[in-house]
Amino acid sequence: MKAIILNAPGGTENFEMRDVPKPTPGEGEVLIRTVAVSINPIDWKTRQGKGAWQRISQEQPVILGWDVSGVIESVGPGVHDFSVGDAVFGMVNFPGHGRTYAEYVLAPSNQLAKKPQNISHAEAAASTLAALTAWDVLFTHAGLQAGQKVLIHAAAGGVGHFAVQFAHHAGAYVIGTSSAEKRDFVLGLGAQEHIDYKNEDFSSLVQDADLVVDTIGGEVFERSLKTIRPGGQIITIPTGYVDDPAGKAANAGIRGQHITVKSSGENQRAIANLLEEGKVRAHIDKDYPVSEIAKAHEELEKGNTTGKIVLHFG
Ligand SMILES: NC(=O)c1ccc[n+]([C@@H]2O[C@H](COP(=O)([O-])OP(=O)(O)OC[C@H]3O[C@@H](n4cnc5c(N)ncnc54)[C@H](OP(=O)(O)O)[C@@H]3O)[C@@H](O)[C@H]2O)c1
Repeated sequence: MKAIILNAPGGTENFEMRDVPKPTPGEGEVLIRTVAVSINPIDWKTRQGKGAWQRISQEQPVILGWDVSGVIESVGPGVHDFSVGDAVFGMVNFPGHGRTYAEYVLAPSNQLAKKPQNISHAEAAASTLAALTAWDVLFTHAGLQAGQKVLIHAAAGGVGHFAVQFAHHAGAYVIGTSSAEKRDFVLGLGAQEHIDYKNEDFSSLVQDADLVVDTIGGEVFERSLKTIRPGGQIITIPTGYVDDPAGKAANAGIRGQHITVKSSGENQRAIANLLEEGKVRAHIDKDYPVSEIAKAHEELEKGNTTGKIVLHFG
């Protein structure tokens, strides 16, 4: 099968499409024929030798990617919830070696959900890592409740655009930040208020937030502490951008933590239900053929994607 190998950490010239053996599913695994994948900042960080590189580079060849949507080609022993021909999607083996930039992807069946029929494979692939992260932040870790006030940074980005929709659907009062051009997009996702982070200081505009979803880190984390009510919380997700988030938050009288998303079929199924009911949707900014992986990475790396960037196979 064809796969995009990362020959060495560095620039996109280190990607190479080549033939590798097609894997065989073991106990509890399925083999997926890939239709679409989506990419995340962790992909380009790992390509550069940061992100997950240390963890996965021991297992050669390195094949990046965690997000996939496709059709089950074969099932291993002990798989009862999926059959050959099912359309499925999920985030594979995160934070380990996902290897989804490939014609066929091996995945534990308990990390997958059936793809809703009313959405495309591109939309499904886009609704995996970013959507699962938003879900984990809001519900697994923050326990968001109806009526709470939540400030979501980078509300137009991959994680943010799902976080706004999930929080809105859960009955929260949502404030989202983005540049001015994306104001209508953010409000259209269900945010009640928008802040143009380039021209306004969110920390003087927001008070008594129950929760801040920090997708930026650094000084944005620091300023966010001022917007949260006593006993409220901040969850930060960019790795390495905040030194001691829990300690800094505690000094401000609130709770703080950095979290890492985990593969979860259960959470993916919950997201699939919302997609199926039309309560949530993935926004596809750009869709490239897989042969244009370099262009896709370079585009995402600019840091101004609206929603998600996906790649299609075939
Ligand atoms: N810990 C975890 O498990 C985990 C999981 C997923 C993601 N992450 C991390 O979370 C971060 C966000 O991921 P993502 O997929 O959402 O990234 P993304 O889609 O690349 O984010 C792009 C968005 O960021 C916005 N943005 C940039 N700087 C901003 C600022 N100062 N204030 C407000 N918005 C800003 C841009 O809006 P404008 O164009 O309007 O500027 C753009 O829409 C990344 O660092 C990623 O690695 C961590």
